[in-house]
Amino acid sequence: MDRLKITGGKPLSGTIPISGAKNSALKLMAAALLTPEPVTFTNMPRLADTRFLSQLLQTLGVEVYWPKGDSECRLNAAELTSTIAPYEQVRKMRASFNVLGPLLARYGHATVSLPGGCAIGARPVDLHLKAFEAMGADLVVEEGYVKAAAIRGLKGAQINFPFVSVGATEHAMLAAVLAEGETVLENAAREPEIADLADCLNAMGAKVSGGGTATVTIQGVETLHGTTHPVMPDRIEAGTYAMAVAAAGGDVTLTNAPVAALSALTGALRDAGVTVETDKAAGTIRIARNGRRLQAVSVDTAPHPGFPTDLQAQFMALMTLAEGTSVIRENIFENRFMHAPELSRLGANIAVRGHEAIVKGVETLKGAPVMATDLRASVSLVIAGLAAQGETEVNRIYHLDRGFEKLEEKLSGVGADIRRVGGEEE
Ligand code: EPU
Repeated sequence: MDRLKITGGKPLSGTIPISGAKNSALKLMAAALLTPEPVTFTNMPRLADTRFLSQLLQTLGVEVYWPKGDSECRLNAAELTSTIAPYEQVRKMRASFNVLGPLLARYGHATVSLPGGCAIGARPVDLHLKAFEAMGADLVVEEGYVKAAAIRGLKGAQINFPFVSVGATEHAMLAAVLAEGETVLENAAREPEIADLADCLNAMGAKVSGGGTATVTIQGVETLHGTTHPVMPDRIEAGTYAMAVAAAGGDVTLTNAPVAALSALTGALRDAGVTVETDKAAGTIRIARNGRRLQAVSVDTAPHPGFPTDLQAQFMALMTLAEGTSVIRENIFENRFMHAPELSRLGANIAVRGHEAIVKGVETLKGAPVMATDLRASVSLVIAGLAAQGETEVNRIYHLDRGFEKLEEKLSGVGADIRRVGGEEE
C-alpha cells in the first residue's frame, strides 16, 4: 500500500494549476447515459473515482474513449447492453448510484445497488427515491438493490426537498430532463457543480432553468443530443491548496481556479490573516503568508454558499497552528471528524464534542505517522504535514487518489518535500 512521506517546514512558492472538479465530473459522466450520441468532456480529472465510474459505464455498454494521460474523455451510450449497476461497482463509490436516474429516464427501468453508508456518515438516498416516485416511478428495494420501473415514462412533478441535498437535486435533474412535462425542484441545493450540470444538460438540448439556485425548473424533452462540455474547475482542490500555502507559508498562485465558488473560504482565510488576491476574469487566486502567525477563526459548515463540509478537515488542520481558539461545527455529516485524532498525533490540541471541534492553536506541529480515513481527512493530514517540523508519513493514501489529481507533482512543483513510497504500512 502506498504512503506519502512529507518533510515539513518548507514555504511554498510558484503556481498550481487546478484540475476539473471530481464532484461535477461524476454527475456529468452519468448525464452521458441520457443520449445515444457521443458526449465529450474536456478538463476531465484523472482520478480513481472518475475511473471507477467509467468502468461502471462500460459495464452498462457505454463506449469510453479516454486515452491515458488525456484530460479529454468521450462517452458514447449509443446502445446500452445492461441497465443493472452491480453492488461490486456501486460499493466502490457512492456517486455510481447516479446512473439510476438517467437509465430510468431513457429506458424506463433500472436496477442499481444501494450505495450503503461510508466512513463520514450513513448517507441515505431516501430523497433521491422520493423524487423518482414523485415522477411516477415504481420502486422496490430488494436484496440491496433498487429496482425501478416507469413503464409509461417519467412524468414531471413538483418536488419540495425537506432539506438540501446535492446528490438528490442532481439526480432528480438527471431524470427530469427526459420526463414528460414540467418538474420543479424546491429547496434545491445551490452548489456550483449543479449549475455546471445544468449547463451541460442544456447544451445537450435539455430545458433546465435555475440550476445553482434554490428553485430548479425543468421542461422535459423527448431526446437529448451529444455535446462537448468543459468540466468546471475543482473548488475543493483549489481550497485545499490555498490552505496548504496558508499553513506552510509562502506565495502561490492557483490558476484555472473557480474564484466565485470559493468566497466562504477566502473570507475565512482573510480573517485568519492570510493574503488572498483573486482575479475572477483570469481565474486566479494568489495566496501568501509570510512570517505572521495565523489568527483563530471559527466556521460552521453549511450547504453552498456556506462553508463547505469538503473543506472542513483542511481548515481544521490550518487552525491547529493559529493563535487562539477556533470552533469548527460540522452540520452536514454526522461522523466527519476522524482527522481530529490523527492531527493530534502531530501535536494539535483538538477536543471533539458531538458535531463541534474546539481547536486550541499550538505554535508548532511535529511530524508523525498518521492514517488517512477518508478523502478530505487524508488531505488535511498532508496540509498538517507540510507545516509540521520533521517527517510525516500518511498511510492509506488510496483515499487521496480518489479525489486529487497529481497531488505530489503539484505540491513538489511549488517546493514541497513530498514523495510517494510503496510498501506495507508500518
Ligand atoms: N441525505 C439524506 N437523504 C438523501 C440524501 C442526503 O438524508 O437522500 C443527507 C446526507 O446523509 C447528508 C446530507 O443529506 O447528511 C447532505 O448530503 P448531500 O446529498 O448533499 O451529499 P451528497 O450528494 O451525498 C455530495 C458530495 C460530497 C459533499 C456533499 C455535501 C459528490 C459525489 N459528493 O455528496 O463530497 O460532501 O455533497 O456538499 O458530489 C467528497 O467529495 O469528499 C464528498 C463527500
